[in-house]
Amino acid sequence: MGVGLDDAVAAETALSHVDGAEGLLILRGLRVEDAAQKMDFEAMAALLWQGLAPEADDSSGLTSALGRARTRAFDHLPRLLPAADGLTPVEGLRLLLAGLADREPGSHAVLAVAAMPVFVAALERRANGLDPVAPDPRAGQATDLLTMLSGTEPDAKRAKALDTYLVTVADHGLNASTFAARVVASTRAGMISSLVAALCALKGPLHGGAPGPVLDMLDAIGRPENARPWLAARLAEGDRLMGFGHRVYRVRDPRADVLKKALAGLPSDRSALAEAVEREALDLLARHRPGRALETNVEFATALLLDAVGLPRSLFTSVFAVGRAAGWAAHVMEQERDGRLLRPASRYVGPWPQVAA
Ligand code: ACO
Repeated sequence: MGVGLDDAVAAETALSHVDGAEGLLILRGLRVEDAAQKMDFEAMAALLWQGLAPEADDSSGLTSALGRARTRAFDHLPRLLPAADGLTPVEGLRLLLAGLADREPGSHAVLAVAAMPVFVAALERRANGLDPVAPDPRAGQATDLLTMLSGTEPDAKRAKALDTYLVTVADHGLNASTFAARVVASTRAGMISSLVAALCALKGPLHGGAPGPVLDMLDAIGRPENARPWLAARLAEGDRLMGFGHRVYRVRDPRADVLKKALAGLPSDRSALAEAVEREALDLLARHRPGRALETNVEFATALLLDAVGLPRSLFTSVFAVGRAAGWAAHVMEQERDGRLLRPASRYVGPWPQVAA
């Protein structure tokens, strides 16, 4: 086993399975392609939380519970929001999430997941000098996030595309942020602390921080004919191309295709450029690391989709967290129910005490 824990088994889970050789993501028995077609975010959360949280016994019950909890999260804003001034959106989200107390009544899974869109929208509006917009407890998380951001009801196509995104990224095996959540959950530190840990892991550019930089890359390239020289220069300098490569997938990430399909219904003025960049990047990466299959990952498609939904790139990582929170919470509950303290070993390579002569 490598020092990056490749192939180490740290937990048993009934939640999701990633087959990197086949390009398969299975969520509780459903392929991600089917889940994204059939379900909204609330149904996906209910599926993941089945048997773990009573609120998930039916998806309409969970929709109402999340709606009510968004209102409770909104009540926390006057206390929490001013402290986030000057922070980036994801740093602000980290602070607000950490501001929820362990003594909060009710299900912390429901509260924390419901709080995510409320906090994301309120932080963004405050950064623009605007007051927060109260949630609509009858709406779904995707629609309500867009409404709380703009103050008006979103166009149905955009809301649907965002909902598909939230479903698609809801869970993904033992990725770095989910692992972080399970480590903290294994100490019995509780749901809120576990989700804060997960968010901290997600924000890095090698994990959930990549889609903003993907859009920066597209902007810097500007035109399809610039793609090859620009990308080749980055690789020659030893940079990584954002939106490509994955620890587990050795073929195309199946989520990339789900998101590409969802994007097809939305106007996007970047599609020709994105296609050229993807084509040239894959060709250059194959030459750059011939022994290593470096394919398009979910973050490339995420950048295009969230941009077409009309979200600013500074929010991409936080919006990823809105979706992934469902999976994090499920893993925390599963870890708390079935798991042991996670305590791996390290290989000591430092000096040993000198033996006295
Ligand atoms: N561009 C250029 N080279 C790359 C890339 C890339 N995107 N990805 C991997 N490589 C190279 C590495 O430089 C390394 O080369 P070396 O052995 O000569 O040093 C080799 O491929 C293997 O890299 P590792 O870091 O060991 O591969 P790992 O599987 O751990 O990396 C990761 C996965 C971190 C996602 C990587 O592919 C990467 O940095 N991609 C760019 C960032 C990105 O898109 N992140 C989002 C991932 S998806 C998600 O988390 C939701």
